[in-house]
Amino acid sequence: MTEAEIVLEGRTEHRLPPAKEDRTEKQLERHGKGPADKAHRSAFHNPAMADCRTRSVLLMDYMLDTEWFNKPQIHTLDALCATGSRINRWLTELPPEKAERLLLVGADLDEEALEYAQQNCPNVEFRNEDSRQVLLSSGWQWVDIDPFGSPVPFLDSAMQSSARRAVMEITATDTAALTGSSASACLRRYGAKIRTDEMAHDSALRLLMATVARTAAQHDRCIMPLLSSWDSHHIRVSVKVHRSIQAANVLEEQLGWRVASPTAEELVAATEAGLHPQGSEGEQPFCLLPFSHPIRRDDRRISGPLWTGPLFDQDVLASMTVERAITLCGDDAEPAVRHLVGEAALASTPSLIITDMLPKFCEVGGPPKIVDLIDGIEKAGYKATTARWGAPAIRSNAPWTTILQVTENCFD
Ligand SMILES: C[S@@+](CC[C@H](N)C(=O)[O-])C[C@H]1O[C@@H](n2cnc3c(N)ncnc32)[C@H](O)[C@@H]1O
Repeated sequence: MTEAEIVLEGRTEHRLPPAKEDRTEKQLERHGKGPADKAHRSAFHNPAMADCRTRSVLLMDYMLDTEWFNKPQIHTLDALCATGSRINRWLTELPPEKAERLLLVGADLDEEALEYAQQNCPNVEFRNEDSRQVLLSSGWQWVDIDPFGSPVPFLDSAMQSSARRAVMEITATDTAALTGSSASACLRRYGAKIRTDEMAHDSALRLLMATVARTAAQHDRCIMPLLSSWDSHHIRVSVKVHRSIQAANVLEEQLGWRVASPTAEELVAATEAGLHPQGSEGEQPFCLLPFSHPIRRDDRRISGPLWTGPLFDQDVLASMTVERAITLCGDDAEPAVRHLVGEAALASTPSLIITDMLPKFCEVGGPPKIVDLIDGIEKAGYKATTARWGAPAIRSNAPWTTILQVTENCFD
């Protein structure tokens, strides 16, 4: 093996095959800012996923303090572990008494990546096997799935083999399919149609969550969302999974549709179903509808079926403080948790309001400043917070008419 390059991520030193020497300036600059450049090293490691690994450390730290895991040891599988970065970070950055509870296995088809993984984490068992086989070989309590592209090929084995109570973290990088820009891949893989509009990435998160929930139900399990995120090129959901035939039967109550330019009747249905805190007054850009609402599949305004339940657990969001992130994961950890604590109070609010959409609906020349908008909504007696999102956005439980009024006031 050639001499390893040591890369620091979080508080963890990670040994990797050295970057190739023939990389151009442009390639070096692009590296770590989006999808992995597989030609950068001989084994996979993408610095663009550092924030998601930071949240993985924080989520595990939080969950190991809860009563979800009632046994001392946690059978943990990083099913597509590459050079073992995630396992290395868990072992290095979790408090030692928590790291000791993990019975860790890593799996990958790339033999060279596993040689580095073994150097990084000498006491961990790594298996050079198809991860679907490894998944089926035991009852796992914590599973991480982070493939190239779609996680769909791994979901069935992951659900089938999950312990009575488990946590699953699932990444998807096939965002073109999930956001509907590859419509046929979306239909083939996820059985859905997604409208390519301002809400496409939120629809993508909800589609991935719906797919995980449906696969869980097929195996008499149900899910409870913990965290959801969209970062640059990937979508990720983290969920609790537990065995329950009854809960799996009510899956349809948490599925539904997103409709663009909803009619007055659709807004009433959304509001009555508890899916639209903005209420039914006025012309509005989007709302979610329950699964039972009759829709026409050729209606181009419709996206779905989607998960319409919460995307977050309130207590998990509240635990994602900057202080805890820096204590556990080092001085550069703040971006990984930015805005998450603020979103806790609105964790189950389904609507996301992208401020660029507002000028179309009121008499203003551009989007309002987020701080002014939030301040005005709070002064009007409602909740509002900055959303962690790829475009300026808020979450709020205020009626649509209030949001528009406050938007106009922001320019007075
Ligand atoms: C996106 S990378 C994983 C990155 C890793 N989780 C990290 O944080 O650095 C995907 C990995 O999946 C591996 N892989 C792809 N298909 C696989 C399969 N069926 N079984 C096991 N590993 C597989 C690839 O070799 C690659 O290392």
